[in-house]
Amino acid sequence: MSVYIGPAIEAAGLNKTFGDVKAVDDLTFSVERGTITGFLGPNGAGKTTTLRMLLGLVAPDGGSATIGGRRYVDLPEPGKVVGAALEATGFHPARSGLSHLRVYCTVSGYPLARADEVLDDVGLGPAKRRAVGGYSLGMRQRLALAAALLGDPEVLILDEPANGLDPEGIVWMRRFLRRYADSGRTVLVSSHVLTEMQQLVDQVVILRRGRLVRQGSLAELSSGPPWALVKTPEVERLLAALGEGVADLRVERLAPDALRIELAAAHIGRVAVDARVELHELTPGRDDLEQAFFELTTEHESEREPA
Ligand SMILES: Nc1ncnc2c1ncn2[C@@H]1O[C@H](COP(=O)(O)OP(=O)(O)O)[C@@H](O)[C@H]1O
Ligand SMILES: [Mg+2]
Repeated sequence: MSVYIGPAIEAAGLNKTFGDVKAVDDLTFSVERGTITGFLGPNGAGKTTTLRMLLGLVAPDGGSATIGGRRYVDLPEPGKVVGAALEATGFHPARSGLSHLRVYCTVSGYPLARADEVLDDVGLGPAKRRAVGGYSLGMRQRLALAAALLGDPEVLILDEPANGLDPEGIVWMRRFLRRYADSGRTVLVSSHVLTEMQQLVDQVVILRRGRLVRQGSLAELSSGPPWALVKTPEVERLLAALGEGVADLRVERLAPDALRIELAAAHIGRVAVDARVELHELTPGRDDLEQAFFELTTEHESEREPA
């Protein structure tokens, strides 16, 4: 038997078209073991479609998607390799959380007691005998996570798991997934809300219109020099004041009265006050990752067909 040592998840040249919508467009990325990777992009970017292709639920038009080096359909015991919680899970409202998971145990050949274990793991122990119809959205998210954990998988794939969680729930999820990844296992978690993910993930894969925008570590993508957006009717005077004693001031002129300046906003503000330069706006730049995400989200909006 050979031991697979490559990335936990790999997508290579993945493509999927629905009618005239290119949902996933030549997408290549990989997810390293032991990491929590955020799969980020605005609504409609192709995240769910990609995850469904990884899980063998949608057939790609081209390219390959593998988990632990194999296509999902070729995994001999898929439940032990990967657990997934996708959007829109069809829990029957009249049945209890426990009864749902017991059915899954029976289908997959796990002992029934495993249902109680995973329900305890996600904090649903006290509610497990209640009908799912009475669960909050956050509780249903936890139930979906519990179902994903049944086979004690190496890889967890979660589609927008923070939807419907209150801030406390998000903190809980963060701790849970961190512990999971710290044990050497791997988490791929999608979201269209960057702020939910910033505290959680090590790596990011950013999608826009089905294409890869960026992939890298959060640290790598967040680092960069500080910058600020400035509006002033006295551009030349401001630049003269800022330029004193600075060898290489990086400035981009966005409009006659608007600049992007590669300096900390607080510094620019101080210099402007000292030089009595009038400022109409001074906005600190978001860090690089947030900026990248912001840009691709707004560009997406403006590309939309007018209603
Ligand atoms: N089964 C489907 N039939 C038709 N279009 C689909 C289907 N699934 C997804 N799409 C379209 O593919 C694009 C990507 O959708 P999706 O993968 O759900 O994005 P995300 O999860 O990032 O919001 C969207 O334009 C969506 O409308
Ligand atoms: Mg989605």
